[in-house]
Amino acid sequence: MKSFDEAFRANLRDLLVWRRDVRRFRNEPLPDGALERLIETACLAPSVGLSQPWRFVIVDDPARRQAVIEDFTACNADALTAYAGERAARYATLKLAGLKEAPGHLAVFADRGTEQGHGLGRRTMPEMIEYSVVTAVYTLWLAARAEEIGMGWVSILDPAHIRRILDVPEGWRFIGYFCLGYPQAESDAPELERAGWEKRSCAQTFIYRR
Ligand SMILES: Cc1cc2nc3c(=O)[nH]c(=O)nc-3n(C[C@H](O)[C@H](O)[C@H](O)COP(=O)(O)O)c2cc1C
Repeated sequence: MKSFDEAFRANLRDLLVWRRDVRRFRNEPLPDGALERLIETACLAPSVGLSQPWRFVIVDDPARRQAVIEDFTACNADALTAYAGERAARYATLKLAGLKEAPGHLAVFADRGTEQGHGLGRRTMPEMIEYSVVTAVYTLWLAARAEEIGMGWVSILDPAHIRRILDVPEGWRFIGYFCLGYPQAESDAPELERAGWEKRSCAQTFIYRR
């Protein structure tokens, strides 16, 4: 049986502790083939019925990238209007995407129409398709961090508009847009915590018993 030793387990925990949502990137390109390699690793993720419903769109086209940046700018300005007072002032100071600086742009979709997996496991819970794609996203996030590549999740976007900008097939549901590149700094604490937006709670808070 393939086994993993104590040193590996400690390294794995370090990887989990030091993975960050990254919005501040160095001005340095990613090596050729880096995104494709990370996507290959992401495809090792679990998926309902082995449906592999993830669809990765590498966005290189400058006009499409610019359109995504403009969509983010509009959605973020709109999001700000939902806050008032001190919370609004604080929101306005947050950096919530590194779209302009990141060398890598990746959009991820879930193909609800896929026949792969023959429907297994999604009869009563069709949303398992989206959950499966999120497992691939997290796999990619960790694999990237293991290569010192930072990734940031951008969700402050209009999904229908993003689907139009990227001209993807009907039936692909937008899961998220990701910035990838080398981080300016590393930390074992989330940026939102460091910015005073929210505190991370301890695991005990989330455990219930019945
Ligand atoms: C589903 C999802 C959507 C997110 N969307 C955004 C986003 O639009 N902008 C942003 O700055 N961070 C976004 N994040 C990152 C979270 O803010 C971040 O994961 C959280 O603050 C914890 O920080 P950490 O990932 O560095 O541990 C998102 C994270 C997840 C899981």
